[in-house]
Amino acid sequence: MRTRVGIVGAGPAGLFLAHLLHRAGIESVIVESRSRADVEGTVRAGVLEDWVVHLMNDLGLGGRMMREGHFHDGISLQWNGERHHIDIRTLTEGKRVCVYPQHEVLKDLIAGRLNNGGEIVFGVTGTAIHGVETDTPSITFRHHGASESLSCDYVVGADGFHGPGRQAIPRTCRVEYEKIYPFGWLGILARAPLSWHELIYANQSGGFALLSTRSTEVQRMYLQCDPADDIARWSDARIWDTLHARLDTGDGWVLHEGEIFQKGIIPLRSFVCEPMRHGRLFIAGDAAHIVPPTGAKGLNLAVADMLVLARALEAKFRRNDDAGLDGYSRTCLRRIWKAERFSWYMTTMLHRNDAETGFERAIHFADLDLVRTSDSAARLLAENYVGLPFDT
Ligand code: DHB
Repeated sequence: MRTRVGIVGAGPAGLFLAHLLHRAGIESVIVESRSRADVEGTVRAGVLEDWVVHLMNDLGLGGRMMREGHFHDGISLQWNGERHHIDIRTLTEGKRVCVYPQHEVLKDLIAGRLNNGGEIVFGVTGTAIHGVETDTPSITFRHHGASESLSCDYVVGADGFHGPGRQAIPRTCRVEYEKIYPFGWLGILARAPLSWHELIYANQSGGFALLSTRSTEVQRMYLQCDPADDIARWSDARIWDTLHARLDTGDGWVLHEGEIFQKGIIPLRSFVCEPMRHGRLFIAGDAAHIVPPTGAKGLNLAVADMLVLARALEAKFRRNDDAGLDGYSRTCLRRIWKAERFSWYMTTMLHRNDAETGFERAIHFADLDLVRTSDSAARLLAENYVGLPFDT
């Protein structure tokens, strides 16, 4: 098999890239280790930055998102039993976010890609990347018991934190930055009515909680827990008690309960790999950087990488202009580090960390109060929340 751009991974990064390249008339093939059903069924975060919404529409993929997504003009932060509203739309001159889960985005991207004649090879095993320091890189894998080789001009590792993409950059050629947080998130999906029309990020009663939504009938909520905790120790009653303690305001507001039909615990980490290019290999999304989920930047960052890369590949194929490809890593990382900063800020400010001193804890509450009392602080948060601009 041969194609121009060989993409490892059918997550948000790989699929958006395939669409952007298709729009530019550049062919690509995606190989993915999971089945289509697994890709479309994995529960992840669900907030799309303003420009991602526009991009979905520009690519002709936004129909269902516009019908089923929930557009939010603001969020609330809550601490000491008080809820403070941040009017994101006013603070950012009209920008909004869309609550539309990642797996729904993936369903739209996969269907759209197959409709426009794209090739996605699901369920491959033994994926390996070769020759990225030469002009003839390739991806080998097994599919339906046969060994396959995909030769291409460029390889993109959009294959998540554990994939072979990043490992194909020699250890001596990359620097990795990591921060592990001493807490995890217990996430639930519950069949319950909406309790509030926007998201609430709370830090009270010994920890973090987040009220989010999936539809008028299904709600998504998270609470801070020990990352090593066993989900079996969290009965539904204990989950609701903890959510009430962390979200209740004492002023008559009601958190609606319902049947919990999905629950799980994820650890929180920040991670960045520099650079994001080695020869003819480009890495993107979770393969190159991880953010803790507070603020839901993961998918948005993956798409941002691909916007930069698609433009760079187009310039290369059209005009033999290497500048974009040479600048890919630097351009992406400038924006990525700001999103890393924002996700770290939201995470440390909103979680209870017993390893911190009383001084550090007081600083986090001062940070929260700054957002309440300063328009500049609120605007900075809002600008980050809807997605920072791209400076090239
Ligand atoms: C969701 C997840 C997040 O991490 C967040 O900051 C907001 C919403 C969600 O899954 O709905």
